[in-house]
Amino acid sequence: MGVTALCPGTFDPVTNGHLDIIERAGQHFDGVVVAVLENPAKRPLFDVDERLQMLREATAGLVNVEVDSFTGLLVEYARRKGSGVIVKGLRAVTDFEYEIQMAQMNRRLAGIETLFMTTAPTWSFLSSSLVKEVAGFGGDVSGLVPPSVADRLKRKLGGA
Ligand code: PNS
Repeated sequence: MGVTALCPGTFDPVTNGHLDIIERAGQHFDGVVVAVLENPAKRPLFDVDERLQMLREATAGLVNVEVDSFTGLLVEYARRKGSGVIVKGLRAVTDFEYEIQMAQMNRRLAGIETLFMTTAPTWSFLSSSLVKEVAGFGGDVSGLVPPSVADRLKRKLGGA
């Protein structure tokens, strides 16, 4: 039986940094499930359907990648999907503290392992939050997110 990795996140919206990790994870596992957290309490800019659509468009060329959403605990979702490993990207030490806490909690809750991949240096500064901030002030985010995401950001935020 093949090994499926979970790439979970908020993806509000997906960036080229996320896509780099998803694509590289797909080269090491039989399948990758990109799992979008549906959590209205986080007040995302894009609702879960929009985030799923953007991810599906962006990963359409990756044959072993599936895009799905989940609510509740990630480890419960992983159990339902039959996935025993979480893959996350690490940009810098600033990510490490938060990520190691989640990894250790998930291991404690369900014995699930988290593997970290280092973000490509090209994207080490990139985050969904910064992209939204730049787009909100009318800055150019092309080349940082897929073109359809840049269009949606423009439509949603306009730019100051
Ligand atoms: O893109 P993000 O915001 O870094 O993703 C965080 C995410 C979605 C992976 C994390 O918040 C999560 O797994 N949430 C689901 C609820 C859960 O399992 N919480 C306990 C984590 S130890």
